[in-house]
Amino acid sequence: MTLPTLLTGRLRLRAWTEGDAGAFHELWGDPRVIWWGHTATPEASLRKLAEVLARCATMPEGLGWWAVEARDTRRVVGNIVLQPASYDDTTELGYHLARDGWGRGYATEAARAALCHGFSTLRLPVVSAVVHVDNHASHRVAARVGLRASGPITYNGMPHVLYELSREEALALDGAASAAT
Ligand SMILES: CC(C)(COP(=O)(O)OP(=O)(O)OC[C@H]1O[C@@H](n2cnc3c(N)ncnc32)[C@H](O)[C@@H]1OP(=O)(O)O)[C@@H](O)C(=O)NCCC(=O)NCCS
Repeated sequence: MTLPTLLTGRLRLRAWTEGDAGAFHELWGDPRVIWWGHTATPEASLRKLAEVLARCATMPEGLGWWAVEARDTRRVVGNIVLQPASYDDTTELGYHLARDGWGRGYATEAARAALCHGFSTLRLPVVSAVVHVDNHASHRVAARVGLRASGPITYNGMPHVLYELSREEALALDGAASAAT
């Protein structure tokens, strides 16, 4: 499995490595970020990172988990996921930002780069996301990147909204954006 590095104006998305234990714990060990089940100790985060890397190694080419770095500081500010969805046969998009990275547009910028990679390079037919009904910041990110709410879904035993975006819809959005500029 090879995960390409993706660049945006402010961000660099690159594969997580075993050497990222500290940065991964800053993110995954924070209950404000991983509110559904953070890893409370550095050791638990290390185990989670190893599990993630092992899972990524089994994914189709080009899918996986990216550490999101700010290009100016090289600091890891978040995580982006494109992986086979557990709830249907689409590819799931996920985004998680360190608490001090919220409110800067990083999640939207990084998610757009992952979607562009998914549709243009991997030619995925559909990308989806599941957002807890009360996760308003995440609903806003989903809407900003063009995902369309397609109905309720129970995920992790909790009420979520399923979002979807097909390749055709993404191309139409891109066309509209180009025409507007
Ligand atoms: C979901 C999550 C990633 C959203 O983070 P976020 O900072 O709100 O999202 P963005 O990075 O896209 O930032 C958008 C906000 O930054 C603001 N912003 C500031 N500067 C900006 C810029 N240069 N460009 C774009 N937006 C900017 C926007 O106005 C927007 O605020 P608004 O939504 O109140 O209008 C974050 O809340 C999080 O990590 N939550 C915990 C993990 C989680 O729940 N993940 C989703 C699971 S489904």
